[in-house]
Amino acid sequence: SVYREMNSLRSLSIEVEKCLGVKSVFIVESGTHAETVKNLGAQAAIVFEDHISKGELIGVTGGETIYSVSESIVSRDEKFDVTVIPARGSVGSQARFQANTIASRIANKLNAKLQLLPIPETVSKQAMEIFLSDSEMREAYEMLKSLDVLLFGIGRADVMLARRGINEEKSSKVLNCGAVSEAFGNYFNLKGDRVYSQESVGISLDKFLSIPKIIGVAGGVEKAQAIISISTLRPDMVLVIDESAAHEIIKEV
Ligand code: G3H
Repeated sequence: SVYREMNSLRSLSIEVEKCLGVKSVFIVESGTHAETVKNLGAQAAIVFEDHISKGELIGVTGGETIYSVSESIVSRDEKFDVTVIPARGSVGSQARFQANTIASRIANKLNAKLQLLPIPETVSKQAMEIFLSDSEMREAYEMLKSLDVLLFGIGRADVMLARRGINEEKSSKVLNCGAVSEAFGNYFNLKGDRVYSQESVGISLDKFLSIPKIIGVAGGVEKAQAIISISTLRPDMVLVIDESAAHEIIKEV
């Protein structure tokens, strides 16, 4: 029955919360990849809308999962006094999965303000200096330092290395150091130690560790290790995952 299903997902969440030491875990049903991503988006949209309030500055990352969250957010007729900003520059080649695109979708749905960050995620030091000499750009960049809320997708180290076009040799080096997860240009092992970091346009690791409210969303067995790794960094976060990841996490921890 639906009740039994809900109860079993609830007890699974409690088990994962204990395993990871994370404050609050929501678990959705798994299905095909597309179904899982859709379920994650629907649940995370509810969690996200519950966690935001007037006057806040909200950062969002890119990726397929957070795109799905943006799809499920309910459109508001009335203006909502929050500002949405991409938490990082552009990566990869899919326009709809860019943080900028997703931030703009979310701002539209919430009837809120939008601050774009129109710059690639990986830039040279010189390019960064020029970028920051523009006052409007600098303002956007400064805003990233005072996020109240962060909605982010949890990525695997190997997938993110590939998405960033990092060459084979460097990728193997990072992976050989035990990297299983990535957040904002930082790569972490299963225990949450940073094993590699790459200059990138977005929030810093220090910032990531101090944003008041963070909501992480990820699913699929293949992301279990990445979820374990990122959870060690922010035990106070709210996590939205799927059943298959949950079972794998319990097996691994
Ligand atoms: O930033 C991307 C996330 O870390 C994971 O992306 O939702 O496409 O798997 P994804």
